[in-house]
Amino acid sequence: MIRAKKLEHLTSSIFTEMANHKHRLMAQGRDIIDLGIGSPDLPPPAHVMDALKESVMQGNVYGYAHQQGFPTLRQAFVEWFEQRFNGVQLDPVKEVLTLMGSQDGLAHLPLALLDPGDVALVPDPSYPVFASGIHLASAEVAPLPLLAENKFLPDFDALDKDVVKRAKMMILNYPGNPVPAVADAAFYKKAIDFCRENEIVLVHDLAYSELTFDDYRPMSILEIPGAKDVAVEFHSLSKSYSMAGCRIGFIAGNSEAVEALSRLKSNIDYGVFGSVQHAATAALRGDQSYTREMSAVYQERRDILIDGLSALGWQIERPKATMFIWAKLPFDMPSKEFALRLVEEAGVVVIPGEAFGQYGHGYVRIAMVQPADRLRETVRRIAESGILNSKPLA
Ligand SMILES: Cc1ncc(COP(=O)(O)O)c(C=O)c1O
Repeated sequence: MIRAKKLEHLTSSIFTEMANHKHRLMAQGRDIIDLGIGSPDLPPPAHVMDALKESVMQGNVYGYAHQQGFPTLRQAFVEWFEQRFNGVQLDPVKEVLTLMGSQDGLAHLPLALLDPGDVALVPDPSYPVFASGIHLASAEVAPLPLLAENKFLPDFDALDKDVVKRAKMMILNYPGNPVPAVADAAFYKKAIDFCRENEIVLVHDLAYSELTFDDYRPMSILEIPGAKDVAVEFHSLSKSYSMAGCRIGFIAGNSEAVEALSRLKSNIDYGVFGSVQHAATAALRGDQSYTREMSAVYQERRDILIDGLSALGWQIERPKATMFIWAKLPFDMPSKEFALRLVEEAGVVVIPGEAFGQYGHGYVRIAMVQPADRLRETVRRIAESGILNSKPLA
């Protein structure tokens, strides 16, 4: 059968390889702790599930839904945004669009804005869909290296001038996946100035705005004055309210980019199921204490892993947000080899860093998606496997 060449660029085979190893070992009766994929394991707030339950019993939600999102939902998002992000004002019609999860927008926005051969600056390492969307648009990915010595923030001055000249889009993601690094107002201002100067659309992914630890609360890039001239931002209810399976999120910001995405999507889908839209409205309008309670659960998990592995001699930076730990290997070993040994010898699945880009070599991503007792068991198994003693620790 024929196949488009662009499919060759989509999704790393490493994810499939790790899943295959897991299933092979499970078929042998092994108990595997899967810290691979970042799917939330907690239920959404009770009032959100109640709203969904009530809505599905109404006969009027089964037609085609409002493609841009019900006006009440977009208004709820605008009000949530204003309250959460220091009074930022959004026009619910022109500057907001409902999405089937932020992934929908991340995959389709390049198709709406880029022509074949255009260049997009994409963080490396980063969430794989960022690059997939660019490839689907037959555009070119230029990596923005995220280096530990720069606190995983791209250095705009170090970019090739010719690449910058051809660039039409730049993607950023703070707090990020797989690197849970954070950015501040000064960095966002620099990024906006860079994009304005070079006529680049700035796309910020803020999927983890509510999953944060200690006193850290990330800002929106749209809080920077003038941001809307060049920027859009993706928001998701997947992680904020543990609604990943419901498929609902938003794009907010620059009205021309929002309109372009809306026009494209009106040729692709018919919007999010109405009951999910009602549940999302309940999430955005309801009691927000859930986000702090959920974050506390992940924070305990973070501390179990970071403290437990540190006691074994593996020092890892403590993330301020997200459900991920980005762990530099304690010795020189290809991260894929380390991850394969970890699943074989300890029965623990993590994702090798190179699944997220070439600058991910030497790291693994650990998703904190199992309860505390399973994470204690993870540390115990890593200790017992002796894998950390296989080479001198750095
Ligand atoms: C950085 C990042 N952006 C976007 C997404 C996709 O989220 P959604 O469920 O809203 O499509 C994820 C999911 O893991 C993610 O990690």
